[in-house]
Amino acid sequence: MKTKKRGEYTKLINGVEDNTLLCSASGHGKGLFGERIIYDFFCKGETIIGLPSHKLNMELGYAAFLPEKDYHKKGIKFQQEKPKSMNVKFYHFTTPNFPSNRELAPHKILSMDIKKFKNRLLCYYLFEEFGETGFIRLFIDEIHKLKNNEGIFDLVKKINESIKKTESFGVEAKAGDRRHLNRIVQVLERFRYNPLIFQHDCEFNLDMKQIIKDQKHYHIFSSRYISDVKNRDLITLYLLLEIIEAKQKNPNLPPVCVFMDEIKALCPSSVLYEFKKPLNKIIGEILSTCRGLEINIVATSQNYTGIADEVRGAFNNVCIGKITDLKDLGELSQVIKIDRNVRQEILGLNYNEFFVLNLEDGIDEGSFLTYFAPHCHCERNYNFDRMYKQKYPQKIRKHKKILSDIAVVWKKSQT
Ligand SMILES: Nc1ncnc2c1ncn2[C@@H]1O[C@H](COP(=O)(O)OP(=O)(O)OP(=O)(O)O)[C@@H](O)[C@H]1O
Ligand SMILES: [Mg+2]
Repeated sequence: MKTKKRGEYTKLINGVEDNTLLCSASGHGKGLFGERIIYDFFCKGETIIGLPSHKLNMELGYAAFLPEKDYHKKGIKFQQEKPKSMNVKFYHFTTPNFPSNRELAPHKILSMDIKKFKNRLLCYYLFEEFGETGFIRLFIDEIHKLKNNEGIFDLVKKINESIKKTESFGVEAKAGDRRHLNRIVQVLERFRYNPLIFQHDCEFNLDMKQIIKDQKHYHIFSSRYISDVKNRDLITLYLLLEIIEAKQKNPNLPPVCVFMDEIKALCPSSVLYEFKKPLNKIIGEILSTCRGLEINIVATSQNYTGIADEVRGAFNNVCIGKITDLKDLGELSQVIKIDRNVRQEILGLNYNEFFVLNLEDGIDEGSFLTYFAPHCHCERNYNFDRMYKQKYPQKIRKHKKILSDIAVVWKKSQT
């Protein structure tokens, strides 16, 4: 990361391989700063992907509007830029809770491809377990055998069939037993009434390659109607893995910038749910892979030490805004080795001021007043749906048709 100054504002220029973490107390401008970093990546031709926010709001979606607040408009003028609204596309995975009769910003409704669950990392998360356990092996083996038009119901049937077989390599041996089947069914049970995983040839399956090709839009994913916490995290994980796979298979795709708001909620250091344990390890692993693939991560968090170690370690740039939690600051200065003077500086930071720590080469450190993105930012008391309806009355629509089309596909897959 390099810095470029104009007046007292500072433009922070992110490098191709930067993973940037922004930490500050609530309301001190990390959302604003993150949006600027993303905007700069957008201007450089990167595809912007906003992962679902744990606040279940549509914060990055406000990029579709022009800024209205004075502080923001003044800042943009000072930067000698013009207010601008971005072209935005919205995505949501299918759920029976998605409102079918409400007028909303147009969302592409998506499903997951069952064949992608051959990926071990997804299985480790789903089964909350690492390694070659019998049921994971059985699960993956049977997915390999699925035809393109076979889904989750066929999978369970196939597993049931295969545990009855007693022959392998020409000798008497079993692929698995009823315990394996039970375990798999228990895990898949959550998808029976919340269909999410569909057959390989389902037309609603996410096509990440197509999305990454489109550099003209901000691609914003939301999970606000997904009520199950584990499924919400599954979606985030699935998206990250899809981005990586698309980039690995197609090196000519443009670079990608991924925005993760409140990463502490996704990967907390002290876990409430058991499934967060494998998740933290997996996300840490994934984020470090991203750096070699022209995928930049920009993440925010209200504190530093609340994020799981494995995940924190994947960031080479850490920008610290005002921190009001002294315990966090104390621990942070031990982890990142900052001295007393810097601690004082951090405590005295104002709106939009960030202390930049480059953890790799230590250049350009110090506190800076950040640029604003030229688009609208989600202010307190803003309501996304209302605002979208007001600004784009011609674009809003009901999602009844697509939701019922998906329901038909699901129903068919059960027969
Ligand atoms: N220069 C300024 N003058 C006045 N108000 C400002 C200024 N800069 C920022 N703000 C206010 O501070 C808010 C910062 O919000 P932002 O969403 O970026 O905070 P955040 O750090 O992401 O908080 P949270 O952790 O709650 O998400 C803005 O919405 C704006 O209302
Ligand atoms: Mg924020």
